[in-house]
Amino acid sequence: AHQWRGVIAEYADRLPEHLTTHPVTLFEGGTPLIAAPALSERTGADVHVKFEGMNPTGSFKDRGMTTAISAAAARGAKAVVCASTGNTSASAAAYATRAGMVCAVLVPDGKIAMGKLSQAIAHGATLLQVDGNFDDCLIAARKLAEAYPVELVNSVNPDRIQGQKTASFEIVDALGDAPDIHVLPVGNAGNITAYWKGFREYAGLDDGAAHGAVATHTPVMWGFQAAGAAPIVLGHPVTEPETIATAIRIGNPASWKQAEEARDVSGGLIESVTDDQILRAHRILSAEVGVFVEPASAAGVAGLLRLSDEGRVPAGARITITVTGHGLKDPQWALRRADGGEVTPVRVPADVVSIADALGLG
Ligand code: F0G
Repeated sequence: AHQWRGVIAEYADRLPEHLTTHPVTLFEGGTPLIAAPALSERTGADVHVKFEGMNPTGSFKDRGMTTAISAAAARGAKAVVCASTGNTSASAAAYATRAGMVCAVLVPDGKIAMGKLSQAIAHGATLLQVDGNFDDCLIAARKLAEAYPVELVNSVNPDRIQGQKTASFEIVDALGDAPDIHVLPVGNAGNITAYWKGFREYAGLDDGAAHGAVATHTPVMWGFQAAGAAPIVLGHPVTEPETIATAIRIGNPASWKQAEEARDVSGGLIESVTDDQILRAHRILSAEVGVFVEPASAAGVAGLLRLSDEGRVPAGARITITVTGHGLKDPQWALRRADGGEVTPVRVPADVVSIADALGLG
């Protein structure tokens, strides 16, 4: 019998040695790449969904947190800090606990989903709601880590990118080659940076050169920001980002330049999608694909559908889309109807005839 051993053990030969000596792991990664016939039919492409909600804390952040916390632990760190729209804080809190470290998290006041808040608290983090947005939190976290004995575990920490690049390896391993196009949401832009690095390394480029090529090419990268928080699309920071996709409610992404490089070198694009487009994609993922995600995670699918409507998706292209976090993180959106009304369960007496009637079987 074989159990997936976590991204450090599975890809140790492709990670810097300082990340692999003392692994702190919850057996993250090894997430399913799920064929999505409903999306293939809608777009005329061959679409597969990488479901990162299947990680131990329910988001892709665990891939980078196993490496960041392992490195911090190996250096003897006692405390870590992060700024977060929620998922990073949940992940940092869980991995810090495994490593016996103290974890402090700075979150934007009132703008993080309840599930994520609960996770950070449950795992014992000290959580501070900062009077400001994510960008303010990140500035404060960086300054704190410079001036005090606490390590920063946001994706500006290169150890995070090393772990997150393994998602690209898994996609290529599953398909037997790189996809033609890879699609994902963009917030602070760490993940698009990491995916691009992973795809390049597996194509035998950069740090992957010593290993030879696993893939014959790198994919075109398509990133999507929420329209109310789309600094890379607009070409300037957004001082008051707004979107229902709170995970990507970010106005000044730390890895902005790297995201542009991934876009430009791959011949790709970074565009925006409206909250309505995100919620529609969220419903299609739940009701037609069978994958429940949080709103931000649907931004990539929303973008693909928009480009398909515009006739910009190449017929038959093999497309992979990362859906970044689990729907249970922020479940309220499923209970909203398309017309804005609230879904309420039908009440019935506890007898089989009434139940059959209510089901239209009578
Ligand atoms: N999707 C989800 C569910 C996220 O939580 C994030 C980022 C992203 C997409 C965007 O990824 O920042 O690498 O471009 N969440 C961070 C956090 C900011 O604090 O949890 P990115």
